[in-house]
Amino acid sequence: MIDTSSKTEAQEIIDENLDYTLFSWSKQKGINPIAVEYAKGVYLYDYNGKRYLDFSSGLMNVNIGHGDQRITEAVTKQMQLVSYVTPSSVTKVRGELGKKLAEICPGDLNKAFFTLCGATSIENAIKLARLYTGRHKIFTRYQSYHGSSNGAMTASGDPRKLPVDSQQAPNFVHFDLPYLYRWEYGEENLLKESTAQLERMVAYEGPSNIAAILLEGESGSSGCLQYPKGYLKAVREICNRHGILLIMDEVMSGFGRTGKWFGFQNHEIVPDMIAMAKGLTCGYLPFGCLMVSAKIASKYDDAVLPLGLTYSAHPVCCAAALETLKIYEEDNLIENAVAMGKYLDAQVETLKATHPSIGNWRNTGLLGCLELVKNKSTKEPMAPFNAKPGEMGVMNNVAAKIKELGMYTFVRWNYVFIAPPLCITKEQIDEGLAIISEALKIADEAVVE
Ligand SMILES: Cc1ncc(COP(=O)(O)O)c(C=O)c1O
Repeated sequence: MIDTSSKTEAQEIIDENLDYTLFSWSKQKGINPIAVEYAKGVYLYDYNGKRYLDFSSGLMNVNIGHGDQRITEAVTKQMQLVSYVTPSSVTKVRGELGKKLAEICPGDLNKAFFTLCGATSIENAIKLARLYTGRHKIFTRYQSYHGSSNGAMTASGDPRKLPVDSQQAPNFVHFDLPYLYRWEYGEENLLKESTAQLERMVAYEGPSNIAAILLEGESGSSGCLQYPKGYLKAVREICNRHGILLIMDEVMSGFGRTGKWFGFQNHEIVPDMIAMAKGLTCGYLPFGCLMVSAKIASKYDDAVLPLGLTYSAHPVCCAAALETLKIYEEDNLIENAVAMGKYLDAQVETLKATHPSIGNWRNTGLLGCLELVKNKSTKEPMAPFNAKPGEMGVMNNVAAKIKELGMYTFVRWNYVFIAPPLCITKEQIDEGLAIISEALKIADEAVVE
């Protein structure tokens, strides 16, 4: 028996979690999690009553903010009627949600296959693309993340897949797409070179073998590595020319995060499928959706659609999603994301002038990332790509300071993400940037002239 008599409630909770549960993407010793008791709006509260500003909306998913009782009511109401029906049965909410998603999706993207999370949306997108085209290869970007299940992890270029390198699924081809800050030859040239490289790779791999190109609607956890202007249009054109499907992964960039319903809408293209999760239910319940064009769906009018999940179209999740979509509109959250994104950009410009460690700021709507460097001229990163724990000293101290000062945000390698709930106010952005500014003093001290 562990003696818990002299511990605070918070410490007991933390210890029980550490003793009996496993933590994602971490060595299990030395973790110091926030024990969250409740959350409201943009704030989390721990068991000691300490308040944390959630500056990355959890994992960039709690777009509407925390603790919205409208969701609780919608979910409760559905549970009082029925909590589960098999996916072969129907409920009112399933049809209503499908119709609503068809309304917000552009083009003929009007058929929803409901999943459980981002990874299950991606797995089904990959499977359906192969089935529909009769082709096997999937092209994806190296610096991307699409989920941690086997196919989605292989599709990701993210180094989180390297420890399971030997388990990679076959027939994924990765291509490089550099980003402007670390490209020395200008944006026009970046577009030209990147498009030409993709064209060559498509030719080498055999266009008639390629089922789909899968890309994030806007780059997320790889560091908000924005597409060169015109790139997604060029990719769409390559797809059209070769009968390749274009799948946009909107798991992180969807639902107002980038100032539009979907990230790809900033690039004036329409994909063939959209993978969704996160902002669809904002974490109130786990849920996802693969939105498919009418053209693809019609192939299965008279043929069996070989996709299925016990919890597909779960009524309670559908109710949560339907209410979430209503909240985006009722509270004008997407408009607020645009306005607050502009405000954030302006405030970060001021911050950049006072902190020599800020090398670059990339942001679309409220999906933003500070890239910290040891020197603005050489752009030497404060921590390298895929940094080992021993190389994270300064960044760990920055992250610890942020937490100490009452903020939760996503810090990775030399990146500090800023992606708050879309309901955030100017005052709350100021509060968050003041905390980050204070923590950046640690990084500034590590700058070498
Ligand atoms: C772009 C993108 N796709 C897919 C996923 C996987 O989603 P999930 O963790 O819900 O499986 C993530 C998760 O962060 C993501 O950012």
